Amino acid sequence: MAALRRGAPGLLQLTLALIKPDAVAHPLILEAIHQQILSHQLLIVRARDLVWGREACGRFYQEHAGRFFYQRLVEFMASGPIRAYILAHQDAVRLWRTLMGPTQVFRARHAAPASIRGSFGLTDTRNTTHGSDSVVAASREIAAFFPDFSEQRWYQEEEPRLRSGPVYYDVEGGVHCVARGEPPA
Ligand code: PPS
Repeated sequence: MAALRRGAPGLLQLTLALIKPDAVAHPLILEAIHQQILSHQLLIVRARDLVWGREACGRFYQEHAGRFFYQRLVEFMASGPIRAYILAHQDAVRLWRTLMGPTQVFRARHAAPASIRGSFGLTDTRNTTHGSDSVVAASREIAAFFPDFSEQRWYQEEEPRLRSGPVYYDVEGGVHCVARGEPPA
């Protein structure tokens, strides 16, 4: 069962990464973030570009309802195109959050200037990216963006093959694939 397997040592872990409207609006920043994902051995399992409905966005951030920034965050996230990725790595949740850097941009600039937010973040709202903060949150958030994705089936069928490799990034499909024979040139 996925619920038992996802935390098991040695298995690939999944996380949800979002590229927020401020970053998607700038193709060079979007591409730089995409390259950060690829260069840190995070596997792209699924990816989609979308404009998020306000209601779905409000539900996603429900845990922050009542906080001073909630409305601003929801309005912003629904204000333009975003990109959603399911990423896999043995330490996917922590690795992606480390690559993003601190939530608050002033902190990111000082504490982690080379991080994604340290490099490209503008404000605490326009802070480029989101990442799940636990494997439990990742499951919930992945289901919100990829309702057809079965985590259980992925752990049964795709995870063992991706983990054993070799894998390559399929530029056209926008996801990592298991190489059968020679990867495409
Ligand atoms: S907390 O307190 O740790 O739960 O908050 P945090 O995880 O740092 O932030 C939760 C999300 O709220 C966004 N955020 C803000 N948006 C707008 N304005 C302000 N001031 C603000 N502060 C925090 C923050 O970017 C997080 O969004 P996600 O999409 O999860 O990164």
